[in-house]
This record gives sequence, C-alpha cells and structure tokens, in this order.
Amino acid sequence: MLKVAVLVSGGGTNLQAIMDAIDNGTITNTEIKVVISNNAGAYALERAKNKGIDAVCVSPKDYENREIFNDALLAKIDEYGVDLIVLAGFLVKIPEKLVEKYERRIINIHPSLIPSFCGVGYYGLKVHEAALERGVKVTGATVHYVDAGMDTGPIILQKAVYVEEGDTPEILQRRVMEQAEWQILPQAINMIANM
Ligand code: GRF
Repeated sequence: MLKVAVLVSGGGTNLQAIMDAIDNGTITNTEIKVVISNNAGAYALERAKNKGIDAVCVSPKDYENREIFNDALLAKIDEYGVDLIVLAGFLVKIPEKLVEKYERRIINIHPSLIPSFCGVGYYGLKVHEAALERGVKVTGATVHYVDAGMDTGPIILQKAVYVEEGDTPEILQRRVMEQAEWQILPQAINMIANM
C-alpha cells in the first residue's frame, strides 16, 4: 500500500481528482495519509476533511523564520511515514532537506509542457498567460519528480491540450486542468503505487 502525503495551497481540484480516482479504482494500492497546506484557508483542506483525511496547516506565518518552518514541515510529513509526497498546487519552496530526505519520492504537477513556461515566476494563471502571450497552439501539463531545482526534475508523464480561439487564461487553465492535470496526476500515482 503506497502511503501518500498531498501538499496543497489552494482550491484542491487536483487533490479531489486523486481522491476520486482512489474511490473509483483508477488508482489502486494507495492511501492518502495526510493533506498539508501552508494556507489555513485553502479549500483543499476542506476537501480532505470531508473525506475523513487528516488535514493540517503548517504555515510559514506561524514560525519565527523560514528555517524553523522548514523543520516543522519536515517533522509533520515524517510523522505520517509516507512513501510519496505529492505537490498539488503547493506554492511554498520545497526545503532542500526535504528533497534530499525524500529523493525521488516527491512528485509535482505543473500546468504546462515542461520545459516551456516553467521555473521561477511560472505558477497558476501566470503559466497560461505566458502560453497565450507566446501564441502556442498546444500546451498541457507535466508530472515530474522534484529535485533541488524549480520544475527541473525527471519528467514522469505529460499530456497535451489544444489552445482554442478566444481562450482567456482562465478558460485555458480550466481546460488544462480537466483534460490533462486531473488525468495524469492520478495516473502517475497509480504507476508509482504499482511499480
Ligand atoms: C493547478 O493549476 C496546478 O497545475 C498548479 O496549481 C494549481 C492547483 O490547483 N500546480 P488546485 O489547488 O489543485 O485546484
């Protein structure tokens, strides 16, 4: 049984896709042990609570400095003894000591076809604004292992999505979520759970 911690910061639609996939058998041999957010108001925490999953806030605001926060985040994750950490819209920089301790056991979903539109400053809507600005005809999403860089780890899965006439960043974001993110993140977890 793959034990998973999911780290979130926002609405949690990717978390919901994972929970739904476990419920409907798209993901097997997997249990979400805890959902952790840096943001106490993240609706993703509500989604976890609604499923009876431990939902915990570990916020940098509650700690004297970033180093102490990093230690608290690592300690909280360690408490659950997980095999895999899934970053599902987690907007806090991952502490190096976490990357080292959980080497090749942290995965992230990014809303573009890496290496396009990724790295520092590319998150959330900004990714889709940049894709529309550049005029790409195809974008999509990527699941990759997390290493010490930003969106630089080995790629696990990608899925392409067409940009359509008249797309706004919001419309494109939704299509990339529906057609790519919510498909390949559960698929990647299932692959890892059954390797
Ligand atoms: C998604 O767009 C994901 O690609 C990015 O952050 C967003 C999280 O959305 N990493 P949600 O919280 O899963 O709805």
